[in-house]
Amino acid sequence: MIIKVKSPGRINLIGEHTDYNGGYVLPGTINKAINFEIFKVKKVYCEVKSAKINKLLIFEINNIKKSETHWHNYILGTIDYFLSKKNKITPFKCSIKSNLPIGSGISSSSALISGFAKAIIELFELKYSKSDIVKIVSYVERNFIGLRGGIMDQFTINYGLKDNLILLNCDNSSYNYIQFKSKSFCILLLNTNVKHSLINSAYNDRVNECLDAEKILNTYFNCNKKLANFTLDELDLVKDKLNLISFKRARFVISENTRTLNGAELLKKSNYHEFGKLMYDSHNGLKNLYEVSCVELDFIVDYTKKLNYVAGSRMMGGGFGGCTINLIEKKIIDKFIDDISKSYLTTFHKNLTPIKVNIANGLTFKKIK
Ligand code: GLA
Repeated sequence: MIIKVKSPGRINLIGEHTDYNGGYVLPGTINKAINFEIFKVKKVYCEVKSAKINKLLIFEINNIKKSETHWHNYILGTIDYFLSKKNKITPFKCSIKSNLPIGSGISSSSALISGFAKAIIELFELKYSKSDIVKIVSYVERNFIGLRGGIMDQFTINYGLKDNLILLNCDNSSYNYIQFKSKSFCILLLNTNVKHSLINSAYNDRVNECLDAEKILNTYFNCNKKLANFTLDELDLVKDKLNLISFKRARFVISENTRTLNGAELLKKSNYHEFGKLMYDSHNGLKNLYEVSCVELDFIVDYTKKLNYVAGSRMMGGGFGGCTINLIEKKIIDKFIDDISKSYLTTFHKNLTPIKVNIANGLTFKKIK
């Protein structure tokens, strides 16, 4: 039996850095994915081959530990999870192909763990649901990658639906789909090709700064809520108890959460221009309050501000590089790409990579007997 799994990347229209603060996000899965093919072998070792980076990982099931090689940990961490739950895993061979750019804020990491976990589940006929995979990804990120990420990426990858965004409440995992299908507007990602090597530690710093604010708010109001669920007025009441950094982070998270809920209502009415204004506000907050942007991302967002055929633009994902997400009129897209790419090259002496995306289905698999 051969199992084939397709695990897509994700975009997020709005609701950045709200997921680990118990807030709302508005993501969807895209038509770019990591593909897995896996089957059992009568050998002592497991083999995982990544065509994308042209690397091979060979390991023994009964000797799983963290590796010095970053990408190995996505695989080893997933196997470790299943073993820790007393599942019987025997040697297999897995090949991985991908057209998802790595480290660009479109969630290649979660797609890798989710897809590999699903491949193992189907190959060994284990009983794990989509919501279990969401937890498995968090386990691997925390224990093998060192990232204290939220659930947005893995939830989206597992629950994504063609032509729909997911309005997800990351506090209780309740969600509903919002149709996103427009004759005139489309989503264009612009990859800055900037990769921040310290993203994990900068990300974890933000998580801690938010937790500090959350703790002070909960103590002051004698409650037990996640940061995103407080109001700006409540935050102002504890301002003098917080350091400036935590105050700024909290101010961003609370405002972004409100923007996400308002944005979802605007998208339901296909009001792209008003929605786009919220994207610019989101970027402004990510740049000035959350401080996760970079000059290349800011350049793209600023460039689009004067163009009335771009409804909105902002940095997407963890930040410090990666892509901007742009809501743009379809008819002008090729000329826009040409113009902005030239300008980007002249300014930064590196290429901008355009990625046209559609909202596609989430993770899928096939069994071939
Ligand atoms: C990364 C994390 C997500 C989320 C975003 C920021 O992509 O994996 O959980 O926190 O950053 O919104």
